[in-house]
Amino acid sequence: MYKTHTCGQLRLSDAGSTVTLAGWVHRRRDHGNLIFIDLRDRWGLTQIVFNPDTNPDAHSVAQSVRNEYVIQVTGIVNARPEGLSNNNLDTGDIEVIVQTIHILNESKTPVFYINEESDVDESLRLKYRYLDLRRPRMQHNLVLRHQVCAGIRNYLNDNDFVEIETPILIKSTPEGARDYVVPSRLHEGKFYALPQSPQQLKQLLMVAGFERYYQIARCFRDEDQRADRQPEFTQLDLEMSFIEQEDILQLMEPMFVKLVELIPEKHIRQVPFPRFTYDEAMDRYGSDKPDIRFEMFLIDLSELVADCGFRVFSEAVATGGQVKAICVPGCADYTRRQLDELTEITKTYGAKGMAWAAVNDEGVRSSITKFFSEEEMATILERVGALTGDLVLFVADTKMVVAAALGGLRSEMGKRLHLTEKDELAFAWVTDFPLLEWNEEEGRYTAMHHPFTSPADTDVELLTTDPGKTKAKAYDIVANGYEVGGGSIRIYRREVQRAMFRAIGIDDVQAQEQFGHMLEAFEYGAPPHGGIALGLDRLVMLLAGEPNIREVLAFPKTQSAVDLMTQAPSSISERQLKDLHIKLDLDD
Ligand code: AMO
Ligand code: AMP
Repeated sequence: MYKTHTCGQLRLSDAGSTVTLAGWVHRRRDHGNLIFIDLRDRWGLTQIVFNPDTNPDAHSVAQSVRNEYVIQVTGIVNARPEGLSNNNLDTGDIEVIVQTIHILNESKTPVFYINEESDVDESLRLKYRYLDLRRPRMQHNLVLRHQVCAGIRNYLNDNDFVEIETPILIKSTPEGARDYVVPSRLHEGKFYALPQSPQQLKQLLMVAGFERYYQIARCFRDEDQRADRQPEFTQLDLEMSFIEQEDILQLMEPMFVKLVELIPEKHIRQVPFPRFTYDEAMDRYGSDKPDIRFEMFLIDLSELVADCGFRVFSEAVATGGQVKAICVPGCADYTRRQLDELTEITKTYGAKGMAWAAVNDEGVRSSITKFFSEEEMATILERVGALTGDLVLFVADTKMVVAAALGGLRSEMGKRLHLTEKDELAFAWVTDFPLLEWNEEEGRYTAMHHPFTSPADTDVELLTTDPGKTKAKAYDIVANGYEVGGGSIRIYRREVQRAMFRAIGIDDVQAQEQFGHMLEAFEYGAPPHGGIALGLDRLVMLLAGEPNIREVLAFPKTQSAVDLMTQAPSSISERQLKDLHIKLDLDD
């Protein structure tokens, strides 16, 4: 046995006992006479002391020890002298007076400090991830992730769910991203796809009669990376039979409450979670994943300015668009440069411009003064609730662009003004999504969630008569401006599934080719069913209070989908290529 106790375990009551500890040298202080080492393992730090008078051999070995050496020591637990306790350490009341030391392994000088929270370049952290993961913050994050998974499993097991694994080598499942594919050696020219989610398989498990399934499932999506996206990520994936949307929402809420209880300093803003329809969320927050920790609602001025003299506004309304504004408290002193910066932000969302009005003691300063009489401006400012000191930002465009641009400005200003409380988790449900969205590039509708999502009961007709207006039985769970999860009640009848495929431009022949197995399964007594999938990485990121999901993954990839530690992706040998029947056609 290498250790009798962990480095986080010893207390005053252990004083006098002989113990053996093993771990890493976290910090070493040589006081000439005495040498102090903070010894670290997963459970904490213990101060160990080397005294040249009582144990000269151990002391001389300790002189050669450096940070991150792996050592084993045996010694006697000693109550620290009066006044020398360290309240920051669980083991701060004691120290171990070392009698013998073994150096189990040496270490090169680490490429960055492990014993302090310094700002280290992320690419260095990712290259030496095994060192980065030794740091307390990362240890904490990964242990928290484990606790979240355990909490999820306990909760769902208690609710009679069965955990079932589904394959990684499958036929492509459309979730809207590009597939990662794996060439087949045995079947020349054929490919497996890695699952973007276990969507079809979990539905087939419902046809198979399991009624309550879950899986902590790895998913793969070849899409542009962002702070909250990785090419491979983990979902809590679940599916139930003989249920309605309300059953899923009611099942999930208490689970989130339990998970948040894992972190004492975090609290949920409102239980039961508030609910918004998609239309309400877009209308009020300009986003289908609203951060509801602060208000700053989008105010619709379309009617008010429909006939005004400012053509940008009146034309937007006349062509079926909107004019909306947000009122930003206390920013009336924004400079030209700051306002230009905000305008640039709206442009990244496709807006053609941004107008503004600042309410000062002296009156109103605005980019659109010349187009409005004083009374007209006063009416507008009253409508948006602007008080002295406030800055009003306007965007005129199509409904979607106005929502995106003002929604983007709203989050930016919320951040700048610190309107969010960092330990608050503001969960909310967003429901009643549109079933389809128009894809300009492809000139056809695509499924907004995925093609197995059921239209609302009242909208089945619309699917053929006016597809764009069809609402879906789909719901998202959002928190603090992130989409944490999404799900839907599924189509379970073959003819509705066919109508859905037709609406998104997949004819019967294509449907048979791509989804024949699903359509066939639906002919053998498929039960009504539905489910949800949570982005586990995003959930843990929010619980850990981290700014991106890489901080809660052991071995993440970079923004360009590279693993800096192993250097994947990498070339493979000619032989491997040949086996896989692949000829490369590279330009260089
Ligand atoms: P959806 O595509 O909405 O639904 O995914 C569910 C949740 O997974 C998370 N997520 C991601 N997390 C990290 N990196 C990514 N690249 C990434 N992509 C998605 C998000 C998202 O809310 N099969 C359906 C679920 C269902 O209908 O039951 C699905 O996969 O938090
Ligand atoms: P101009 O007539 O060019 O002086 O424009 C007056 C103001 O209208 C400027 O502040 C522009 O930035 C703003 N503006 C231009 N296009 C839009 C738009 N689509 N929505 C809101 N404001 C706009």
